[in-house]
Amino acid sequence: MEYLIGIDVGTSGTKTALFSRNGELVKSHTAQYPLYQPQNGYAEQEPADWWNAVCEGLCAVIAQSGVDKNDIVGIGLSGQMHGLVMLDENGEVLRRSIIWCDQRTAKECDQITQLCGADRLMAVTASPALTGFTASKILWVRNNEPQIYEKCRHILLPKDYIRYMLTGVFATDVSDASGMQLLDIAQRDWSDEILEKLSIPKAWLGKVFESCEVSGKVSESAAQLTSLAAGTPVAAGAGDNAAAAVGCGVVRDGRAFTTIGTSGVVFAHTSDMPVDEKGRIHTFCSAVPGAWHVMGVTQAAGLSLKWYKDNFCTEETHEAEKEAVDVYKILDEKAARIPVGCDRLLYLPYLMGERTPHLDPDARGVFFGLSAMHTRAHLLRAVMEGVTFSLRDCLEIFGQAGVNIDSMMACGGGGSSKLWRQMLADVFGCEVTTCVSNEGGALGAAILAAVGAGLYDSVEEACDAVIAVKGRQLPDDNNTKKYNEYYKMYGSLYPALRESFAALSEK
Ligand code: XUL
Repeated sequence: MEYLIGIDVGTSGTKTALFSRNGELVKSHTAQYPLYQPQNGYAEQEPADWWNAVCEGLCAVIAQSGVDKNDIVGIGLSGQMHGLVMLDENGEVLRRSIIWCDQRTAKECDQITQLCGADRLMAVTASPALTGFTASKILWVRNNEPQIYEKCRHILLPKDYIRYMLTGVFATDVSDASGMQLLDIAQRDWSDEILEKLSIPKAWLGKVFESCEVSGKVSESAAQLTSLAAGTPVAAGAGDNAAAAVGCGVVRDGRAFTTIGTSGVVFAHTSDMPVDEKGRIHTFCSAVPGAWHVMGVTQAAGLSLKWYKDNFCTEETHEAEKEAVDVYKILDEKAARIPVGCDRLLYLPYLMGERTPHLDPDARGVFFGLSAMHTRAHLLRAVMEGVTFSLRDCLEIFGQAGVNIDSMMACGGGGSSKLWRQMLADVFGCEVTTCVSNEGGALGAAILAAVGAGLYDSVEEACDAVIAVKGRQLPDDNNTKKYNEYYKMYGSLYPALRESFAALSEK
């Protein structure tokens, strides 16, 4: 029997999942770690935490499943995109990783635009300079921590740091590399032009692979720490969203999914390369060789709900512990009792600034319309609705960019909530389905490993064999009508607040 492992290095934790060759889950383990926010707008993580979580996960799934490590024919990596990992000449981590949702680099974005030219940046990287992307984080370290920058010899993304620890190889894949703002998106390789203009040495970057190619093999030393067999092939893998697309079969034109993890993403596969001229959605290389995808990003989707839970739902958290149920289930039940529109309460989910559609690192969260009649449950539902409106913003821009969608799936933590899936169907005004497996990025990574190991001829063929769809939810016309009205009001709030957000950030 052949087995595969998918590792997804997320923001709240790392999931390690062991699958049969047909994608059936055998064992999975999630290890969590902290997110450091030393200042408003900052977000950092410790690469050693990711690696410890991977070692813990691999040891756990192999021991608990009883699977012979020699039957594991491939490992695939998926992970949070954009995070900057800097290593010195000995491969030692130089500082905490500045991760995707960090917003400190507005000045560096101006610098990038000046050095590269706005037009060339769009033409080559398909995006204006963005605070979330890796290039501006590299420049921030150069501008603010020159003593660290001087020692830098290698730059890696989060999942690529795990690859380095597993195999000793410095490499990345086309989908994750797309979010560094250093890749030529059409050519699927590093852009010499952008690297030269930014004075970033190409030698610091790893080799770029297509996602299903084998990038290296597990080393003897990593085998000791992980219970894996030395020599097990490690596929290039993909950024978390591109991997999630594979994990829910969004690998052909017309297919799309929405995922609510820490961030929220609306994602569509495309065999051509549409680019929004304002850069409000990203055009990235797909994990399917020769294809691309577009995606819009809500910075704080699941993060908004987690923030609300952590700060205001102690009661529900205790109840969940006592009853041994998932706290989010209890929150869903409470939110479901509140009417659509939350008795006229709106939430803007800009806790970590916002990407789609505003591209504004200074934006911050807002409850709008608070009344003395509102309860904690109203605020809870307003958080879910606000995140959903923000995802609708992404979908609207797809339409403007000419991306047609035939099917919409819902995945990720939020996708497993029936209430949130119905909200998506109602707010998007279209049918929403989900996957039988909710392993998302980890399954996608394992599928890429299966193709790398030669079990399937292509990513599409593997997805046809592995992915099954379930749970069709249709929009309720009455709800859609009400949501449309609230969505209009939601859309009017950010423009009215933009200048106040900027002024607040100067305080
Ligand atoms: C995508 C993005 C997030 C992260 C974290 O551009 O920033 O989705 O990948 O999940």
